[in-house]
Amino acid sequence: MPWTTSDIPDLTGKNAVVTGPTLGGIGYFTARGLAAAGARVILAGRSWEKLDAAAAALSEEVPGARLDRVALDLSSLQAVRAGAEAIAAATFDGGGPLHLLVNNAGVMATPQSRTVDDLDLQMATNHFGPFLLTGLLLEPLAESGEARIVTVSSMMHKLARKAPLGYPTVQVGRYSPWNVYSQSKLANLLFTFELQRRLEKAGLPISAYAAHPGLASTRLMANGTSRRLIAPIASISEAAVHAMAQTPEAGAWPALMAATYPGLEPGTYIGPSDAFEARGVPKPVTASRLARDPEAARALWELSEQTTGIAYP
Ligand SMILES: NC(=O)c1ccc[n+]([C@@H]2O[C@H](COP(=O)([O-])OP(=O)(O)OC[C@H]3O[C@@H](n4cnc5c(N)ncnc54)[C@H](OP(=O)(O)O)[C@@H]3O)[C@@H](O)[C@H]2O)c1
Repeated sequence: MPWTTSDIPDLTGKNAVVTGPTLGGIGYFTARGLAAAGARVILAGRSWEKLDAAAAALSEEVPGARLDRVALDLSSLQAVRAGAEAIAAATFDGGGPLHLLVNNAGVMATPQSRTVDDLDLQMATNHFGPFLLTGLLLEPLAESGEARIVTVSSMMHKLARKAPLGYPTVQVGRYSPWNVYSQSKLANLLFTFELQRRLEKAGLPISAYAAHPGLASTRLMANGTSRRLIAPIASISEAAVHAMAQTPEAGAWPALMAATYPGLEPGTYIGPSDAFEARGVPKPVTASRLARDPEAARALWELSEQTTGIAYP
């Protein structure tokens, strides 16, 4: 039987964090699905205004939803540390440990930019920030006795020809926004599979999963590369993508299935089932051979620990 949102079990008593829950995006609909099942959802985003708007809309759509808001800017290592502290404080103050972390937030094909830590903006937001956040939240996650971490990747990971293993504060060669995006989404999968191996080895009661939304009509493109295009071209290219895409609500299904499907094999990667994984009901899908390369995963892990200053167990 295909998975539907009615397969989401009762999540009453569970605490979940969703990063990037902006109204209209995949994170918003992920948060909505979890809140509707009874979870207390901590909305973690970089703009208070957008967090307030998302919380207000969620409260209207899910009467009685239990929501918290936490400021989190994934592009700054210091801000990630502050955000993780706020999340840990929210879970413990608000009663109980953390059961679920959905690393959803991301940027796509942004113009070249370096962060306050001198990292590439896409790699910082899509990989290094979530790597640090996850490591800092392992303790509250382990406290739950059975936790899941879901990281949102993309079909675009298949376009990456190599893992992003260069020293991250050094820019080598010409900047290609799409190449860096593909590499950051490959990093999401290398991270997930290596994380699962390490969690298992450390005997922690946490499982790691990955998901991708297919093609969903969100503001991701407009927020990224289209900003560099002249307005008419940007709106035509966005309209073309949106015409082919599924709704953001459907784009959240893979993450929701990965987050909640009972008995799902740890390390599973979930994506849509139709139109070459662009749309449709979610199911387990295959990652590229490079995403499954344990050597690349180990090397990226070591680089990520050095870059973010965290040591996982
Ligand atoms: N839409 C698709 O077809 C598609 C396809 C493949 C993969 N994905 C993945 O799906 C995820 C969600 O994207 P979406 O399509 O829902 O796009 P979106 O609507 O643009 O949502 C992206 C979210 O990430 C947040 N974000 C960006 N930079 C951040 C930062 N530095 N710190 C904290 N949060 C930050 C955004 O916050 P602001 O609102 O403040 O900018 C927003 O909440 C991303 O990981 C993306 O790579 C999407």
